[in-house]
Amino acid sequence: MMSTLLDVQNLWVRFPTRNGVFDAVRGVSFTLGRERLGIVGESGSGKSMTGRAILRLIRSPGIVEADQISLEGQDLMKLSEKDMRAVRGQRISMVMQDPKFSLNPVMTIGDQIIEAYRLHNSASKADAYNKSLEMLEAVSIRDAERVMRAYPHEMSGGMGQRIMIAMMLIPNPEILIADEPTSALDVSVQRQVLDIMDKLVKERGMGLIFISHDLNLVADFCDRVLIMYSGRIVEVCDADKLHEAKHPYTRGLLNSLPRLDAPRERLEVLERDPQWSEAPSVSGSE
Ligand SMILES: Nc1ncnc2c1ncn2[C@@H]1O[C@H](COP(=O)(O)OP(=O)(O)OP(=O)(O)O)[C@@H](O)[C@H]1O
Ligand SMILES: [Mg+2]
Repeated sequence: MMSTLLDVQNLWVRFPTRNGVFDAVRGVSFTLGRERLGIVGESGSGKSMTGRAILRLIRSPGIVEADQISLEGQDLMKLSEKDMRAVRGQRISMVMQDPKFSLNPVMTIGDQIIEAYRLHNSASKADAYNKSLEMLEAVSIRDAERVMRAYPHEMSGGMGQRIMIAMMLIPNPEILIADEPTSALDVSVQRQVLDIMDKLVKERGMGLIFISHDLNLVADFCDRVLIMYSGRIVEVCDADKLHEAKHPYTRGLLNSLPRLDAPRERLEVLERDPQWSEAPSVSGSE
């Protein structure tokens, strides 16, 4: 059916600690096609670590293990660090949860985008400048010329996030991993950023992994959703069926959401069953 871009099998992320090894991701398996795949789950469930592990961006002493993480048939687990760097720059891009840490604080935004552009395209400085302006405009940054001259600390969280998205799209990646890319944005800007990503999936056939804790947003925006709990995937479902999800954890997450159409005095508190974190993780269909 849908062509598989990424095939992750039995992914583990482990952190040795003084009290033994902490497994942040525990045997996660899924596939990604040219689609919008959401990953949801509460804070600490392993969403970011899953995204970062695909790019082998887990900081020491963390360890990534997997039977395979294959990108169009090529197992990334077998690549050298040097070859992995080429994958990171060109084929899979990631927008990190906190953009402030990803931009260089002592370089103007313009110089950073121009540098990123020229790294991937042979272009004169003037051409790269114009392309960079276009890219900022594409992520709905008005006044792009002023932004080009600004430093990262002069940007709001939302601007920083959009600048990161613009930079991540320069190499025209096959896969974009976006970690809470719209959480810091107000609703109208959020919509614009989602539209940009949507267009890339539809027009360029990009695969998108969209990490979020916002179930309603994911149900609305994505094609499929993985629900993570305690380092495992507890349920996989079509996004438009998310509200019919069966797993008690997913049901609990849905029930603890505030709803405008059915306001309640008190929101439900999620009751946890220790069995959820022992359940075998489900592998993605397709
Ligand atoms: N360096 C580390 N050492 C030990 N544990 C870590 C380390 N970094 C992260 N963790 C743990 O890994 C688990 C998964 O973290 P992760 O960042 O993937 O969560 P998340 O689902 O992205 O949460 P959030 O919604 O808050 O972003 C957490 O319990 C976290 O405390
Ligand atoms: Mg996270």
